[in-house]
Formats: sequence, C-alpha cells, structure tokens
Amino acid sequence: MFAVLSDIHSNLEALTTVLADIEKRGIETIYCLGDVVGYGPNPRECLDLIIDKARWCILGNHDYAVFYEPTNFNYAAEQASFWTRDVLEAEENKQHCDRRWSFLGEMPMRRTLKSKLGATSAIMDFVHASPRRPINEYIFPEDVYTNPLKVRLLFELVKHTCFVGHTHMPGVFLDEPDFYPPDELGDVYPIIDGEKAIINVGSVGQPRDKNNRASYVYVNKNEVHFVRLQYDIETTMKKIKAIDQLDNFHAERLLDGR
Ligand SMILES: [Fe+2]
Repeated sequence: MFAVLSDIHSNLEALTTVLADIEKRGIETIYCLGDVVGYGPNPRECLDLIIDKARWCILGNHDYAVFYEPTNFNYAAEQASFWTRDVLEAEENKQHCDRRWSFLGEMPMRRTLKSKLGATSAIMDFVHASPRRPINEYIFPEDVYTNPLKVRLLFELVKHTCFVGHTHMPGVFLDEPDFYPPDELGDVYPIIDGEKAIINVGSVGQPRDKNNRASYVYVNKNEVHFVRLQYDIETTMKKIKAIDQLDNFHAERLLDGR
C-alpha cells in the first residue's frame, strides 16, 4: 500500500490530519506530488513533515516559485511565495534552513514506478501538473468537453497511469476522453491492464471542488481509494489572516473549498 498526496500549500492542520489517517491505515509509503508550500501559513513545518515522511516529492509550481521564481502567478500568489521565501530565509537554525532549501532545490520533475498491483502490471508516472508540462499545465475536468483534443494529446504521453495534482480537483480522466469525480466512482478506481488513466489526487491543503475536506489517495492492490478528511480549518484561517503578506482570500477559499 502507498499513499499519494499533493498540494499541501503550507496547511499544517490539513497535513497532520492526512498523515494521521495514513498512519492509522498502516500505510508506510508516501509519495508527494508537490506544492508543499505557497498560499498557507506554515511552510517550514510542512516542508519538515514531507521531508521526514515522504519517500520522494515532485516539484510543483509553487515550490518552483519559492526556490526559483514565480511564473504566471497572480499578485496574491506571488506575494505568498515571496513571504514563504522570507520565512525560510529567516530560519536561525542553519541545519534546518539548509535542509529545507536543499530539498526544494533537488525536487525532481517526474518519477515512474513499475509495479505489480494485485494482478495488474502497472506503469505509474507521477508529475505535479501534466505529462506534457509537468509543472504548469492544468488538466481541468471540463477540458474533456471544451478541449478533448488536448486531453487526447496528453493521453498519448501516458503509458498506463499518471498521477497528478495541480488543479486541486480529485478524480480520474480516461482517454475516451471523460472525467469521473470520486463520488461517481464510489471513491475507488481500479487500475487495470490496458486502460489508461490520469488520476488527480486532489489537494491536501486547499481543495477546490466545493468540498472543503482535505483530499488524498491511497493505493491498495490495484485499487485507488479517494479519501476526504475534515480538519481544523478555523485554525488555518486564523493564521492566514494574522499574516499581512497573505491575502485573506487564501483563508476564505479554504472554507468554501474553491
Ligand atoms: Fe497547487
């Protein structure tokens, strides 16, 4: 069994809730698809937890923004990444400081695993955003209707399954193309031989599917299970509102799940 998390966005309350659930299920392997930081109030703590708990972590656009530079960010997101950089720079413990910066600087853009999942021989790619542009391309559920060609072209780059985050909207794309949110799947997608899928694991720290509970998936044999968990949103919102450089909208959207 393994868990796949994405888009934590410096939300410590959501991350600790998810990690506790993973531990309770006896899952020992965690893969992270990036955007550990950005938007939220606890970048140091979230980085430390991911460094300690995740086997590896892919580079997300917000991690890139903090380490390199923000690209295509709106003003509030850009301010949040500059604030995050300041907080990481201001760390007085040099060892902690270096460890976090090295981690951010060494994140890979993609990983591939070949593994037997039950009876299925799975090839699993892991990227933050899309198989074509691993850091920055959004694959939205509505793309299957508004831009089916885009989705078909993306599927040409998928060997079997590809785990993504980035849009903060969990669900499964099939190459028809079609999109299935978790509730249409009974919260389980079975990975099977010969069926290509792009699996969005949703967001731990800033869900945007009108459901404010933290999202992640775990894989047991060939089954991908979508999990949602209530966490202490109030505390995260209060922390965001207390930091001038973080726009209050980043707090409000947590409550609305948007
Ligand atoms: Fe994100």
